[in-house]
Amino acid sequence: MTDVTLDTIANLAKKRGFVYPASEIYGGLRSSWDYGPLGVELLRNVRQAWWQAMVTGRDDIVGLDSAIIQAAEVWVASGHVDSFTDPLVECTSCNNRFRLDKLEDEHQCPNCGKRDSFTSPKQFNLMFKTFMGPVEDEGSTVFLRPETAQGIFINFANVVRTARMRPPFGIAQIGKSFRNEITPGQFVFRTREFEQMEMEFFVPPAEAEEWYRYWLEERRNWYLSLGMKEENLRLRAHEKDELAHYAAGCSDVDYRFPWGWDELEGIANRTDFDLKAHAERSGQDLRFYDQATDERYYPYVIEPAAGLTRSAFAFLLDAYHEEEVRGETRVVLRLHPRLAPIKVAVLPLSKKPELMEVAQQIADDLRPHWNIEIDVTQSIGRRYRRQDEIGTPYAVTVDFDSLEDQAVTVRDRDTMEQERVPMAGLVDHLTGRFAGLL
Ligand code: GAP
Repeated sequence: MTDVTLDTIANLAKKRGFVYPASEIYGGLRSSWDYGPLGVELLRNVRQAWWQAMVTGRDDIVGLDSAIIQAAEVWVASGHVDSFTDPLVECTSCNNRFRLDKLEDEHQCPNCGKRDSFTSPKQFNLMFKTFMGPVEDEGSTVFLRPETAQGIFINFANVVRTARMRPPFGIAQIGKSFRNEITPGQFVFRTREFEQMEMEFFVPPAEAEEWYRYWLEERRNWYLSLGMKEENLRLRAHEKDELAHYAAGCSDVDYRFPWGWDELEGIANRTDFDLKAHAERSGQDLRFYDQATDERYYPYVIEPAAGLTRSAFAFLLDAYHEEEVRGETRVVLRLHPRLAPIKVAVLPLSKKPELMEVAQQIADDLRPHWNIEIDVTQSIGRRYRRQDEIGTPYAVTVDFDSLEDQAVTVRDRDTMEQERVPMAGLVDHLTGRFAGLL
């Protein structure tokens, strides 16, 4: 196993086009990141794997895509306006600001080392505020959503009515969220703009504990099914004083990041807090009407809330591997084939027109099936290294013999084994290798 550092993965991500610092040509904007050609494919693949596991692969969960900007009352009712805060302190010596609860030593500034230089803590609200329309006054104040979950709660009655769902059932959503974090950092781990994958599972209150346990296992297994190493994952139950204002119970799926165990996903029993709060503030009846028993009740909610950008980062870390090959270090991203941005690379041995023509034909044949890259630059050794570093499961090499025997060489990223395969059977051959993995 390779213990990869944050710098190593950030450098690889930048060098190969996964993640670039945002606004780089203007000196960068701390905590914002842009996803490059490979990063955007990785995110799409994680998103797709989650959606398949949580929505299209089941008959008890439906999807939603709610607005990022909602009525300000949503965030009053949910408790975010009053309680979505972190304790902020400022060092009076160097003027840097910190989250009090994240300081290693509450008496010493981690920046300048000065002792007892902090101001008394003030509760800092993490929501980004802006104005809707041309007038900038209190009445036009709106917030960028700090979680996708509330968009789901306020559409509960719409979904029950139109999709004819009844508890236990879930509503899932993937999208951007925004938090004005006091201390963003550790590359893309904690950013002010990020993407979440959240699902609210509405259950009869008596079944809440059982479903909570169910979702803990399901969510842990999802990371394992995408190749994450078991020794790098753990479930950790929150202490009572860690629980969010809405939660009766919460556990994190933690990942062993380079700096230690940290949260990948939270799974919470949110009780009926949100539906009740929105019903009270909006005056709408958000109870579920159970025709079978002629009863109305507020379902409890079990919420698995994952970070898309954070889990893509963890998948990168987990896949990173270095090994010695013939006296040289080989870097290989052992990404699960489903997550690999490029599934097959087509590599003509030279740029000679007769090889290029065959390679182009092969790429055209493969492209309807998988995401393909045709790479003609540099030596074949360097091209293999590049494909290993971006996690491409298979490379297909077209050489001069191919013109004679109508066959190509298929190279396996992980074993580096090579096999000669007739061009006419290449799609079937690769379909067999990918069977059950995509
Ligand atoms: N609706 C519940 C909720 O939002 P959370 O634990 O605050 O719960 C869920 O967030 C997940 O969203 C986290 O486990 C993490 O993966 C991701 N996340 C939260 N804040 C983030 C940030 N500033 N940057 C990147 N990802 C973040």
